[in-house]
Amino acid sequence: MRRRVAEFRRPIRRRLSYGICFLLGAFSVVGLVLFFVQHNYHQDRVHQHPLLLERNTNVEHFSKNRVNLTEEILTATSLSRQLSEEMVLAKAYVVIAKQHNNFHLAWELSSKIRSSQLLLSKAAMNGKPVTKEEAEPIIKSLSSLIFKAQDIHYDIATTIVTMKLHIQALEERATSATVQSNVFAQISAEALPKSLHCLHLKLTGDWLKKPSLQKLADEARNSLRLTDQHLYHFCIFSDNVLATSVVVNSTVLNAEYPMQFVFHIVTDGVNYGTMQAWFLSNDFKGATIEVQNVEEFHWLNESYSPVVKQLLNSESRAFYFGAYPDVNAEPKLRNSKFLSLLNHLRFYIPEIYPQLEKIVFLDDDVVVQKDLTPLFSLELNGNVIGAVETCLEAFHRYYKYLNFSSSIISSKFDPQACAWALGMNVFDLVKWKKENVTAIYHYWQEQNANGSLWKLGTLPAALLSFYGLAEPLDRRWHVLGLGYDLNIDNRLIESAAVIHFNGNMKPWLRLSISRYRPLWHKYINQSHTYLQECAIG
Ligand SMILES: *[C@@H]1O[C@H](CO)[C@@H](O)[C@H](O)[C@H]1NC(C)=O
Ligand SMILES: *[C@@H]1O[C@H](CO)[C@@H](O)[C@H](O)[C@H]1NC(C)=O
Ligand SMILES: *[C@@H]1O[C@H](CO)[C@@H](O)[C@H](O)[C@H]1NC(C)=O
Ligand SMILES: *[C@@H]1O[C@H](CO)[C@@H](O)[C@H](O)[C@H]1NC(C)=O
Ligand SMILES: *[C@@H]1O[C@H](CO)[C@@H](O)[C@H](O)[C@H]1NC(C)=O
Ligand SMILES: *[C@@H]1O[C@H](CO)[C@@H](O)[C@H](O)[C@H]1NC(C)=O
Ligand SMILES: *[C@@H]1O[C@H](CO)[C@@H](O)[C@H](O)[C@H]1NC(C)=O
Repeated sequence: MRRRVAEFRRPIRRRLSYGICFLLGAFSVVGLVLFFVQHNYHQDRVHQHPLLLERNTNVEHFSKNRVNLTEEILTATSLSRQLSEEMVLAKAYVVIAKQHNNFHLAWELSSKIRSSQLLLSKAAMNGKPVTKEEAEPIIKSLSSLIFKAQDIHYDIATTIVTMKLHIQALEERATSATVQSNVFAQISAEALPKSLHCLHLKLTGDWLKKPSLQKLADEARNSLRLTDQHLYHFCIFSDNVLATSVVVNSTVLNAEYPMQFVFHIVTDGVNYGTMQAWFLSNDFKGATIEVQNVEEFHWLNESYSPVVKQLLNSESRAFYFGAYPDVNAEPKLRNSKFLSLLNHLRFYIPEIYPQLEKIVFLDDDVVVQKDLTPLFSLELNGNVIGAVETCLEAFHRYYKYLNFSSSIISSKFDPQACAWALGMNVFDLVKWKKENVTAIYHYWQEQNANGSLWKLGTLPAALLSFYGLAEPLDRRWHVLGLGYDLNIDNRLIESAAVIHFNGNMKPWLRLSISRYRPLWHKYINQSHTYLQECAIG
């Protein structure tokens, strides 16, 4: 696996031409995302941007006896592909030409782009491939225009920089548009849906009423398997029983030897009984499952952890300034203080599991699709964390997450350093302790007490704490974006060991992205009485 990773990454870095191709690709992808976002998600496939045909394997929407355009576009002689590719280039040059006030060239290019779009969408609607007679004149004139553009704007370095800036601008517009149109998702993400609340009540009832469950839990607590180094250990920190169940179920169902897996779940006090009741009364292929309550981690207190201190402070501030929720309101399922604390537990893994040497961390919004056993034998090359890098597709570099105007950041970090993702990570806990990562984390968390280094989330803190200690993994280990990105390639999703619904459109919400929802829902027991009674599924 290591070797393959290296081969996968290096040529891209070395070769300029690859870089350009990639930029063009990214340009078109971002353009498409934007296109979709701005068209309000109307997924009318017939009127889709013709370029999409290249990426979208969903051509089954065209009736059966038509030409399979996916196949057509993959053939060596495909005219549609040739057209699409030229259009991408031409579009990039429209932007550049306009910037250099070559309005006539920009106009010529745009008009040819329009003709190719027309040709491609006609072909898509009729289910017939583009013919040579139709395509040739357009391809020829586009080629000569592109040639002319290249000749005028010969400075390829400028071209790259210009295009990069445009990609970033487009990307940002896309992001903000998505966030804005997801205001509802954000609101409903904060309040747990009714059906989950119903499940929670039923399971809590079981936990309180059935002493047999408590006895089972006591026995499980003392299992020697929890600290057995020969087994494969996973940790999940969550307050959502259904999401956690999907993570565990998908992991064991795709594993060859699920009996060798141990899951360490940490939740808050409100959900402790719920989690216990669920995991003790359902079948997870013989895997060992431990449930702990974060409120019983007495070592994780104000005097040890700056995070706990900050959380307590912000809570008391909110109280004194009247932002505290009404005391008479119904008791909240999600205690925001412990919710944030659960999010930060990923920085205390060696403290929570002092006897373990290696562990895989899974977010509660992932689905596992492959056997994860090989992750444990990946060579981390002396690093503490294994993670997929995110700077290739989306230019997620350090400067995107951190305030580089601050000298303590700019003096220690490279703004262009490649960022990576949390959510599916493998940790070498021996190395973690040796490198004092938790102490480094505490240092940065204290520096950021006033929010001047970064604002939100745990990723910036992780990027600082694990700087120079992260081993890049093959991207297929962890495919991200299923909670916000409407256009992830189906082949990429299929090849992924872990898919991650990061973003607001979580699969358990009504506002989730319909195309990805079944990937999550198939790991739920649809015939479970409680789930039926609570109308989940
Ligand atoms: C079209 O071809 C692709 C790739 O060969 C295949 O996956 C898809 O099922 C085909 N679709 C139809 C409708 O035949
Ligand atoms: C706080 O945590 C530290 C170790 O992390 C421990 O020694 C101390 O006793 C704890 N204090 C309380 C009040 O629990
Ligand atoms: C970690 O902390 C210990 C004690 O504070 C110190 O002795 C050691 O040198 C530190 N290790 C690193 C790699 O900084
Ligand atoms: C934030 O706190 C740091 C020290 O912890 C200080 O140096 C910095 O000036 C503060 N920034 C702001 C904007 O208050
Ligand atoms: C970034 O850091 C600088 C210098 O410490 C500070 O003045 C500025 O307010 C910070 N920016 C934000 C958005 O906090
Ligand atoms: C796990 O997923 C399978 C289907 O993929 C389903 O049949 C089963 O009921 C699920 N188990 C639980 C405990 O949800
Ligand atoms: C689904 O849940 C029901 C209990 O409601 C149980 O009898 C059945 O075995 C479960 N199915 C699977 C595949 O876990």
